[in-house]
Amino acid sequence: MALYTMKEILKDAQEKKYGVGFFNAVNMEMARAYISAAEECSSPIIIGTAEALLPYGAFEWLIPMMIEQARRAKVPVAIHLDHTYRFEVLMQALRAGFGSIMYDGSRLKDHEDNVCNSAEIVKIAHAMGVGVECELGSVGGLSDETGKVDQMVYTEPGDAKDFVDRTGADFLAVSIGTQHGVYKATPKLDIPRLKEIRRTVDVPLVLHGGSGLSDDDFRNSIAGGICKVNVYTDVILAAKQAIADNPDAGYTDLCLLAEQAMRAATVKKLKLFGGEGRA
Ligand code: 13P
Repeated sequence: MALYTMKEILKDAQEKKYGVGFFNAVNMEMARAYISAAEECSSPIIIGTAEALLPYGAFEWLIPMMIEQARRAKVPVAIHLDHTYRFEVLMQALRAGFGSIMYDGSRLKDHEDNVCNSAEIVKIAHAMGVGVECELGSVGGLSDETGKVDQMVYTEPGDAKDFVDRTGADFLAVSIGTQHGVYKATPKLDIPRLKEIRRTVDVPLVLHGGSGLSDDDFRNSIAGGICKVNVYTDVILAAKQAIADNPDAGYTDLCLLAEQAMRAATVKKLKLFGGEGRA
């Protein structure tokens, strides 16, 4: 089926009201786990990496590997850059060949700075035919270089149209009660807020912090207008469990055991998101 852009994949998802999973990978085994899970479900999938994951794998190694796997895949696969903050890293991502990128200005104190920076990145990326995801409000739960964890700020539905119009963002990440990482308390998603945002903008909406949510949370979010769901922690925890369960396995066997566990975790999510059979 080969390499698709996120725009192509999410256009279909938005029209037909299903969700597509996005999963971060830092090596060949992770990318292979995700793509083989998508093939098992006949579902499209989006994979990629993020600025915070650069220490585990540079773009120039990871992106050609992901593109090659995507080209050989039996389902549509898009390669997307997740949360990235620094201008130079975004420019390196464009050179590395991502089909779409995320500029995350949601942690900036001044909303206008988020608008201006997002608009600047969109202008450059669009000139290269690359789509851009931006975030309004802040999902929270990610730590910065100093280790400080950012707080959740809900997306204001009244700001969404103005933000999309002024930035030209192709995809909008919204904050409706999810957080990145492991939840300390059961999350309560604000679905009426999501529906209100959906009413005001046409671009595909993205839900971050997809680990630890209930099946109903996914169903309600996708019915409410989400078409991309980002998941990372649950897949990493599945790999961790597989490693813990096999204390006598050697490194190469552990790689395969972790890959199988990540694949199974990904299949569960893809089925829940409703993308099964859509490839
Ligand atoms: P989780 O790690 O909470 O699943 O969040 C993933 C994410 O949103 C990546 O952008």
